[in-house]
Amino acid sequence: MELRTVRHAFGGLQALDGVDLAVEPGEVVCIVGPSGCGKTTLLRLVAGLEVLQEGEIVLGGQTVALPGRQAPPEARGIGLVFQDFALFPHLSVTDNVGFGLRRWDPVDRRARVLEVLEQFAIGELVDAFPHTLSGGQMQRVALARAIAPRPRLLLLDEPFSGLDSRLRDAVRDRTLHDLKESGAATLMVTHDPEEAMFMADRIAVMRAGHIEQVGRPVEIYYRPASAFVTAFFSDVNRLQGVVRDGAVSTLFGALPAAGHAEGAEVQILIRPEALQLAWAGEGDHAANIGLVRAARLLGRSTLVHLDMPRKDEAFLHLHSRVARNVAFGEGDEVAVTLDQSQAFVFAASEPISEPTG
Ligand SMILES: Nc1ncnc2c1ncn2[C@@H]1O[C@H](COP(=O)(O)OP(=O)(O)O)[C@@H](O)[C@H]1O
Ligand SMILES: [Mg+2]
Repeated sequence: MELRTVRHAFGGLQALDGVDLAVEPGEVVCIVGPSGCGKTTLLRLVAGLEVLQEGEIVLGGQTVALPGRQAPPEARGIGLVFQDFALFPHLSVTDNVGFGLRRWDPVDRRARVLEVLEQFAIGELVDAFPHTLSGGQMQRVALARAIAPRPRLLLLDEPFSGLDSRLRDAVRDRTLHDLKESGAATLMVTHDPEEAMFMADRIAVMRAGHIEQVGRPVEIYYRPASAFVTAFFSDVNRLQGVVRDGAVSTLFGALPAAGHAEGAEVQILIRPEALQLAWAGEGDHAANIGLVRAARLLGRSTLVHLDMPRKDEAFLHLHSRVARNVAFGEGDEVAVTLDQSQAFVFAASEPISEPTG
């Protein structure tokens, strides 16, 4: 799939403002971004449910949409799964999954439906009706229905958000393996950055109608292109500074500020896991000694709230995330060091979040 400079407006509202994106066969690409940034509009355009205004959409090497010329949804070889699953309530699971195979020979159709149900481990549901299914089962039937006709592209819009959190983890895991096994290209939309990292070969981060960065999860997380992308994937500590001789000085030492002009005001975004803690000892630099205000075990990690002394006698409040339980508690003094690979310098004027819509 390839999108070339796609733009879309609803009246005066520019919902998509020049989107370029490609998905290769067998690849899972997740579009992630805050509510209202244009994710669903993008999927609807690819599916042919929305008329393309500007740009071009190519599927399997063929142009399926140009302004004024579009292939209908059923001619695009696409499988769709929506947030609410949209199963046909009056059809059995077999007929739901066989829906896209109506023109197949009945014997082949039956065999393909059973094969897909087996693949999704829902073979026992052949004769069930949607209202008798659990949320997880409905999700699997919806996915089976989308995959049954062997589409070249699967479009998933927030496919797990209707499930409660425990079930979601299990369903996500199976879906990832099912998608990979099906070999279809997949474009999945989510507003949840962790879900995107779990599912995606590559992630496209959207903001206000455009793609801010595309890359493998590790690139997006360790080399974010903007303050917005940095803050979208984790809680961040935000410091401020001014560039002197190509660097910005912080209480953790000087950080390189390549690409920023001398005297520029910058923000330094530090992921909580980049602040490493040890018991304060003799010889520690005073600037690096923090006072623990609280330490809270969150399951997989502990969040430590720190007050760092500053010249002006106010305190700087920082969060450190430690990958296990810690012995530190309220009132303890700790030496704080910074892993510079997870501190990012951007212009002070860059927004770190969108007003939620
Ligand atoms: N049919 C429509 N008519 C008018 N405005 C729309 C329509 N669909 C979406 N929008 C607007 O376009 C923007 C993008 O919406 P959408 O693609 O649904 O965002 P997302 O899926 O990222 O939450 C939002 O501001 C939304 O209100
Ligand atoms: Mg949406």
